[in-house]
Amino acid sequence: MIARGAMLGPDQPVILHMLDIAPAAEALNGVKMELIDAAFPLLKGVVATTDVAEACMDVNIAVMVGGFPRKEGMERKDVMSNNVSIYKAQASALEKHAAPDCKVLVVANPANTNALILKEFAPSIPEKNITCLTRLDHNRALGQISERLNVHVSDVKNVIIWGNHSSTQYPDVNHATVTTSKGEESVREIVADDNWLNSEFITTVQQRGAAIIKARKLSSALSAASSACDHIRDWVLGTPKGTYVSMGVYSDGSYGIQEGLIYSFPVTCEKGEWSIVQGLKIDEFSRAKMDATAKELTEEKSLAYSCLN
Ligand code: LMR
Repeated sequence: MIARGAMLGPDQPVILHMLDIAPAAEALNGVKMELIDAAFPLLKGVVATTDVAEACMDVNIAVMVGGFPRKEGMERKDVMSNNVSIYKAQASALEKHAAPDCKVLVVANPANTNALILKEFAPSIPEKNITCLTRLDHNRALGQISERLNVHVSDVKNVIIWGNHSSTQYPDVNHATVTTSKGEESVREIVADDNWLNSEFITTVQQRGAAIIKARKLSSALSAASSACDHIRDWVLGTPKGTYVSMGVYSDGSYGIQEGLIYSFPVTCEKGEWSIVQGLKIDEFSRAKMDATAKELTEEKSLAYSCLN
């Protein structure tokens, strides 16, 4: 997807640096061979390595997909201690070798907390440059609304994922719209079923990752990769006017979410910078859900720090 331009646009040449662990070196080389064989016009080079320093050398964008994987029936917390040490090591390599303005997207779970650990151990990378993926959940929410209304997914926008990329995340449709023949109408009004929106819709999106694992016996791959491209593309090239997307970013205290957490907020992006959408009305139902997912992130943060010690 990256070599085809799905991440940085059709005019941006790329050099791919791919890192894997030593037992996967041969398979990694096979991927490199395939990338060469595909003759992508935008692909100007491929570095396939098991050396983290070589992988991080001068990179402008780092997509952190490596982590100890979650298996069926496991919660993200179960994989915390393995991932904390992985993220500590990779953060130190980025700190030493990446471009100083490197943009980082953490995909591997627990994504928000891995990003926080990465921030801790890569102190010279600006905190605004360290993010985690909740665009997958955002896209899942768009998908569920489009299925329910039988409209095309590109006619739905401005859903919000608040909080953690976990089963406590809060998919919020209170500001979402659907384009109809009359213009942009409120998703809540068009769906006209608060019961579904406040229960089944939320749990379906919250549990979608687990449902994919149950069905595939593997975690999401295509949708995760595609939403990682969406995340970076909008961050670098900007969000369309009037559209916001969800990104896990370092909280500045907006919406009463404590500073020091990587929390998913609605954002718009311009000139390579994200900004949290301000001034959205938050009702009591949303407040409780936003606080519950913040509480889980605070607990994950303490658990991660205790693993570090
Ligand atoms: C997903 O949302 O699909 C993944 O984060 C699930 C997982 O834990 O691998």
